[in-house]
Amino acid sequence: MALSSIEEAKKKAGYAAVDEFVQDHMILGIGSGSTVVYAVERLIQRVKEENLQVICIPTSFQSTQLIVKGDLYLGTLDQYPEIDVDIDGADEVDNQLNLIKGGGGCHVQEKIVAGNSKKLVIVADYRKESVNLGEQWKKGIPIEVIPFAYVPIQKRIEKLGGTSVLRMAKNKAGPIVSDNGNFILDADFGIIKDPANLDLQLKKIPGVVETGLFVGMAVKAFFGQKDGTLTTRSL
Ligand code: A5P
Repeated sequence: MALSSIEEAKKKAGYAAVDEFVQDHMILGIGSGSTVVYAVERLIQRVKEENLQVICIPTSFQSTQLIVKGDLYLGTLDQYPEIDVDIDGADEVDNQLNLIKGGGGCHVQEKIVAGNSKKLVIVADYRKESVNLGEQWKKGIPIEVIPFAYVPIQKRIEKLGGTSVLRMAKNKAGPIVSDNGNFILDADFGIIKDPANLDLQLKKIPGVVETGLFVGMAVKAFFGQKDGTLTTRSL
């Protein structure tokens, strides 16, 4: 069955990132989400065709499954704390390559892996490209929080000028529980002109584990376009 234009765009980005950045003997971070699936698909092809020896560090339960099912070599951050290239998706990318991540609730592990990688490379489709964060992604910044603290954290978010909702589970009564056993708040701050400062303010709140603002971390983003072409953004 033919892929939709969005799926084609994701595939284009995923394949291009793997082709440009992956080399033999690398330690790779494997991000989460639906676009990374295509990057892993291409990685599996290249590992078979070129007999590449790469070690894959996952960023979530989903990404662990992708690695294991793809017969790729699964490593842990304990064994390989220095990653060469991390390939991950994003919910939005601004013109400085700052990101909103965590639409899939995996941003804590994603940020840890990205923060321990020499290069973070983003794969996305055309809907994710913005000038400022908050233009395209309207669901708010995902913030992982300690469950005990979620109500006071919501009050503190209001004091910072935002509004937040507790992310609720589907097919289960109650909130989503992250891979780390925490809750997720989605905090809307409208258009975000200074993501670095907002990230700093949010992280000062007791009980905030991590935000989905990835500031100054990515080196390049690949965007599959609606017309089947590919564009990139790098600093
Ligand atoms: C997971 O928590 C997210 O950070 C994903 O990386 C992000 O939501 C991108 O996902 P898609 O590739 O499915 O859009």
